Amino acid sequence: MLSFNISVDEVRRLDAFLDQAEALFQPYGLYYADNLLTVGRIVGFLKDPRFRTALTLGDRSRWYHDIAWRVHVLCWAAELGMRQPGDLVECGVLEGFSMDVVSRYVDLEQSGRGLYLYDLFHGAGGAGRGIAMPQHDSDLAWRVEQRFKQYSRAHVVPGFIPDSFQIALPEQICFLHIDLNDAAAETAALDGLWDRLSPGAVIVYDDFGWNIHAEQHAAATEGLARRGVSILELPTGQGLAIKP
Ligand SMILES: C[S@@+](CC[C@H](N)C(=O)[O-])C[C@H]1O[C@@H](n2cnc3c(N)ncnc32)[C@H](O)[C@@H]1O
Repeated sequence: MLSFNISVDEVRRLDAFLDQAEALFQPYGLYYADNLLTVGRIVGFLKDPRFRTALTLGDRSRWYHDIAWRVHVLCWAAELGMRQPGDLVECGVLEGFSMDVVSRYVDLEQSGRGLYLYDLFHGAGGAGRGIAMPQHDSDLAWRVEQRFKQYSRAHVVPGFIPDSFQIALPEQICFLHIDLNDAAAETAALDGLWDRLSPGAVIVYDDFGWNIHAEQHAAATEGLARRGVSILELPTGQGLAIKP
C-alpha cells in the first residue's frame, strides 16, 4: 500500500502523467481521479444515466467531475438514509456542488424532505473560526440560495457551526454530510446533531481517510466510538457510518 504526504506540485505532475496513462489504458479499466487510481474496475456509477445527469446538471467543470466517485457515494448514502424519517443536512457547503447533485439524484422536491445547508460562506471568521477558501465572498450565501431555490424545503443557514444550529434545525435527520476541514468544528457538528439523527440515518465524513486530515480522522473516530459506532474508511477518502 502506498501512503505518503504529497505536495501540490507533485500531485499536478502525477495528474498529467496519469491523464496520458488513462488515455492509453482506458480499454483495460484504468481510472484515475481525486488521488484514486484503480485498475480493472467496472466503475459502474459513471455509466448510470441517473447519476450522470445529476452530475452534469450540477456542474460541468473538470474540478468537480474529478470528485465524481465521492459524490456518487453521497448520492447512494442519501438515498439509503431516506428510508428513515428526517431531513438531509450538510455541514460545510461551499458552493453547494455536492448537495446539488445529491438533490437532483434523489429528486429532493418530490421526496418532500427538507435540506439544511450550514456554512460560514464568507470565509475565515478569526482564529479557529473556519478556513478561508478561494470561493468565499460576501455573495456566496446568496449564490447558494439561488442554486437551491427550486427546492421549497431547502434552508441555507449562514453562520458559525455550532452557533448557527440556533437559527434553524430539522426535527429529525436521515442523512448527514460533514465536510468542514476542521476537527473541532466537525466534533461540534456531530455533538449538536447526534440526538436528531434517526436510527438508521447515514453519516458521511468527507475527509476521513486523507492523511492531511489526520486530526479530523481522530476526532470522528473518537466521537463515534463514544457512541458505539465504527466508521468505514472508503477508498475515496470518505468515512461512512450508520446511527444505530
Ligand atoms: C471543503 S468546504 C465544503 C465543500 C462542500 N461540501 C462541497 O462538497 O463542495 C468546507 C466548508 O466548511 C466551512 N466551515 C469550516 N468551519 C466552519 C464552521 N465552524 N462553521 C461553518 N462553516 C464552516 C467553510 O466555510 C467551507 O466553505
